[in-house]
Amino acid sequence: MRDKCSRRDFLKTGIGLSAAALMSGGKNLLGAEGNEGPMRVVASGNGLRATEKAMEILRQKQDPLDAVIAGVNIVEEDPNERSVGYGGLPNEEGVVELDSSVMHGPTHNGGAVASLRNIKTPSKVAKIVMERTDHALLVGNGALKFAKAHGFKEENLLTDRARAIWLRRKETLSDRDFWFPPKPEKTEREFASFYEFHGTINCCAIDAAGNLAGVTTTSGFFFKIPGRVGDSPIIGAGLYVDNDIGAAGSTGRGEANILNCGSFQVVNFMGMGHSPEEACLKSLEKIAGKAKRLPQLLNDDGLPRFGLNFYAINKKGEYGGASMWSGARYAVHDGKENVRKPCAYLFKRNR
Ligand code: GLY
Repeated sequence: MRDKCSRRDFLKTGIGLSAAALMSGGKNLLGAEGNEGPMRVVASGNGLRATEKAMEILRQKQDPLDAVIAGVNIVEEDPNERSVGYGGLPNEEGVVELDSSVMHGPTHNGGAVASLRNIKTPSKVAKIVMERTDHALLVGNGALKFAKAHGFKEENLLTDRARAIWLRRKETLSDRDFWFPPKPEKTEREFASFYEFHGTINCCAIDAAGNLAGVTTTSGFFFKIPGRVGDSPIIGAGLYVDNDIGAAGSTGRGEANILNCGSFQVVNFMGMGHSPEEACLKSLEKIAGKAKRLPQLLNDDGLPRFGLNFYAINKKGEYGGASMWSGARYAVHDGKENVRKPCAYLFKRNR
């Protein structure tokens, strides 16, 4: 029988299979051109401008890593974004230290920088670490020297606003030092909301050829101990891409994520057949379970008292986001519209 199968029949079967592989839940995932897969960009909730820009670049058929980096550069360069790049809130000494990683699916290569000072766009430096060195992660002064060697300009990243927030925190920290308490201000409530502030941007994309890439970039925890590195520049924690399966990244409490290789787990769960949203939830479930062993991480109900979010895309272009606590959103451009959607969540906030 097999011998009688003509080349033509074989090709027909092959085409049939490819078409089947591009059907998901009865939905045709073929792109507008008919012979291409879906283009998608997914990001954290603060990434709507990033998803818009990245999609524009994917449409020009450029590399998905260039697309997501160009997307997050908008946020890194924005002085009003207080958790990423220029304008990011500083460490306890008032110095902005940035972390970022990138990962390129087709080559399974990645690069990262951590505790990088004075450079607005750590994601661009991370890409050059990937492309121009045999290393995966450069930190601190070494990362800065490397960036300068590649022509990056040193700049003061501490905006007046970020400095004011830092100063206020410093002055209210203790009544047993020589810093007087600050005078009450109209913006008191705004200051208060920054005391436990952290944020980050993650952005992942799939292009029409089915290639994946991702980037995560952050200024990390406000008031962190100088030299503290979060999950964002740690491949497997803040970002992971497997071009055969999917891409995932995170925002939120980096320490919990580093200790559980959270994004790697999300991609592994997708590899086992879970949807991106299910995979994000399963990784969060594992992290919440392990957190039970450290009482300082739990609230009065015995639940994690920290926030953590994952965002993911699989090889078919399906996407999702999930959060430890209700209320988070993620940004997605599905090729037609660029919107924010609610994240799935493990625990509901009582508000
Ligand atoms: N997820 C960002 C950080 O922990 O620094």
